[in-house]
Amino acid sequence: MKILITGGCGFIGSNLAVFLNEKIRNAKIISVDNLSRKGSILNFKRLSKNKIKNFKLDISKINKFPKFDLVVHCAAEPAIEVSRKKIDEVFNSNLIGTFNVLKECAKRKADIIYLSSSRVYAIENLYNLKKKGSVKENFNVENFKSIYGFTKLSSELLIKEFSHLNKIKYLINRVALVSGPWQFGKEEQGFVSLWVWKHLNLLKLKYIGFGGTGKQVRDVLHILDLCELVLLQIKKIKKIHNKLLNVGGGSKNSLNLIQLTKLSSNITRNKMRIGSIKKTSSYDIPYFVSNIDYVKKLYKWSPKRDLKKIIADLHFWMKSNHSILKKYF
Ligand SMILES: NC(=O)c1ccc[n+]([C@@H]2O[C@H](COP(=O)([O-])OP(=O)(O)OC[C@H]3O[C@@H](n4cnc5c(N)ncnc54)[C@H](O)[C@@H]3O)[C@@H](O)[C@H]2O)c1
Repeated sequence: MKILITGGCGFIGSNLAVFLNEKIRNAKIISVDNLSRKGSILNFKRLSKNKIKNFKLDISKINKFPKFDLVVHCAAEPAIEVSRKKIDEVFNSNLIGTFNVLKECAKRKADIIYLSSSRVYAIENLYNLKKKGSVKENFNVENFKSIYGFTKLSSELLIKEFSHLNKIKYLINRVALVSGPWQFGKEEQGFVSLWVWKHLNLLKLKYIGFGGTGKQVRDVLHILDLCELVLLQIKKIKKIHNKLLNVGGGSKNSLNLIQLTKLSSNITRNKMRIGSIKKTSSYDIPYFVSNIDYVKKLYKWSPKRDLKKIIADLHFWMKSNHSILKKYF
């Protein structure tokens, strides 16, 4: 079996590529990635070391894909704030890219596992949920959700249409925050890894939005827990398919920024004064925790690694590769 990973040199894609390559003996893993993300060149080198080939192509412009039987579609511009500023780029990579991947799936009768996002849920409805529990798959997706969220939701709809028309099997994972080694975090995306990096190097940090007090809440999933789930999904895709699933750390793995500061400070032994920006972006949300009951039941899977483990693994990776990573954070 040939498994294509789009965005295979990104944080999630590269971890998946290396993990699946090790775990599925009879599979050949290949990647398509245009290396547009800062840091993806390092992941590219990691794939090469593991003898995984990357085709440096842009999925929004592609006219010839390498052959595959199943695709794990990860390539996208994943930062929500970028989608406000670079609308053409985000629309092309995130939506036209999915369209091109799907046309190729139809041609090859290949199945698709899509990395969607919890940001498909409507922002104003999430505001009303504040501190009231977790978000299920049937939560409102109709109202305003950001250009990023729009491209992810539109991709989901397109996948369902192609599946119906071409008998392609699909799984849509609505993924919340994922973190762990090989994540090159930025303020607007991958902030858990950024937080640990800044603590380690005593670099300035700010609580942004909602009064600047650091009380926003998110659930976080360890990258290896995600890899283990995708492996199960690939193994069972003939039996379990055409499903939409929330995938995240869930309520047990949720925290606010103040708690993240404490964890980062404990592991790095560096104490920092965190700055503050009161103003809130219209794309930000005060609280999000995924309800993961469905995925847990369907695959008898649940996150094994807690928040301390996520921070500890990030810290170990950063300390062990410090001089190389300096250029990419
Ligand atoms: N990391 C998270 O917390 C998170 C949460 C929810 C959903 N997701 C989704 O998971 C997927 C992977 O996210 P990630 O965190 O690994 O992001 P990432 O930025 O690390 O990886 C994305 C990769 O795609 C590549 N890419 C971007 N546009 C491309 C294009 N047009 N053609 C070819 N390659 C292109 C980039 O170079 C990069 O290597 C994304 O689809 C994202 O929406 C991620």
